[in-house]
Amino acid sequence: MRTIEWKNDMKNGTITLIDQTLLPGEYKIIECKTVSALCEAIASLRIRGAPALGAAGGYGVALAAHTSTTTSFEQFMRDLHVAAETIKQTRPTAINLAWGVDRVIAAVRESSTSRIDEARRIALCEAVAIAEEDVQRNKRLSRHGAALFEDGDTVLTHCNAGRLACVDVGTAIGVIRAAVEAGKEISVISCETRPLNQGSRITTWELMQDKIPVTLIADSAAGSMMREGLIDKVIVGADRITRDAVFNKIGTYTHSVLAKEHDIPFYVAAPISTFDPARLEHDVVIEERDPDELRRINGVMLAPAGAVVYNPAFDATPIRNVTAVITEDGVMYPAQPDWWSRIPTS
Ligand code: MRU
Repeated sequence: MRTIEWKNDMKNGTITLIDQTLLPGEYKIIECKTVSALCEAIASLRIRGAPALGAAGGYGVALAAHTSTTTSFEQFMRDLHVAAETIKQTRPTAINLAWGVDRVIAAVRESSTSRIDEARRIALCEAVAIAEEDVQRNKRLSRHGAALFEDGDTVLTHCNAGRLACVDVGTAIGVIRAAVEAGKEISVISCETRPLNQGSRITTWELMQDKIPVTLIADSAAGSMMREGLIDKVIVGADRITRDAVFNKIGTYTHSVLAKEHDIPFYVAAPISTFDPARLEHDVVIEERDPDELRRINGVMLAPAGAVVYNPAFDATPIRNVTAVITEDGVMYPAQPDWWSRIPTS
């Protein structure tokens, strides 16, 4: 099963997705039959990870097209735009979500159709294309990245940039898997990734399923492990890459500084859809999440009720801390003055 799929049903079509909030305890597929159900799933991280959110955005617009009940084409397009804005606002940092939404809206608009049934078909075709491309791009990216890893490497990763963060395959974990498939022995250090534990719950689970050796650590153990020479490389995914910074799960910046201090290569794996040529670091909104994610876990209090909390979901790593960015078009080195010129601008 892919992380997210479209299922044709008797009525309007349904988005099915793996509910990642339940992993690793339960593997459950849920159905989103309305845009508001999809928005709830995105906001509560049932579906998460930048490339998966790109697919969710695309399928979300297709769902809006299929559930709009109007017979007026003008009203139909208005319905699509309202849905598009609602979906985009669920999570602001990963650029892929808005990218997926905008791509499907553009496909409908550029078709110049004024027939609702035709617009529905076009929207769904484009959403399916986004999902299919994600799988193919991640396979290419993984092959490019695998060459950077050596037999015997121990690799630290943060959060989850595996197949569950994408439609399939994964980015950072896709690279590790491709290196293993190429015959290299790689072991992984998976940071737990507080507060929502995508590292312990999802990355560790994915790697164990793949039978790739993985050791779970508390986020705060990374520094001393690097100092003791226990980490050879770091690889993470990205939610957005501007010319000057990589946005990824909170804690990524800390790992990048530690890696620099200990002369450890720091790699970022992301498809071109994650690049944002229009913005710089300070233009990007970092999502702040519910304080209760830090105050309690499964109903158990971890802090006094009402404790003041700051809970940003992402941070920015200056591009100078990044050794290489691995994309489906090859490996790019930010230390090279012209590296950004290889990024498509549209
Ligand atoms: O809050 P999340 O779980 O959506 O955050 C996900 C990450 O930060 C991933 O590292 C990133 O999206 C890259 S996924 C290939």
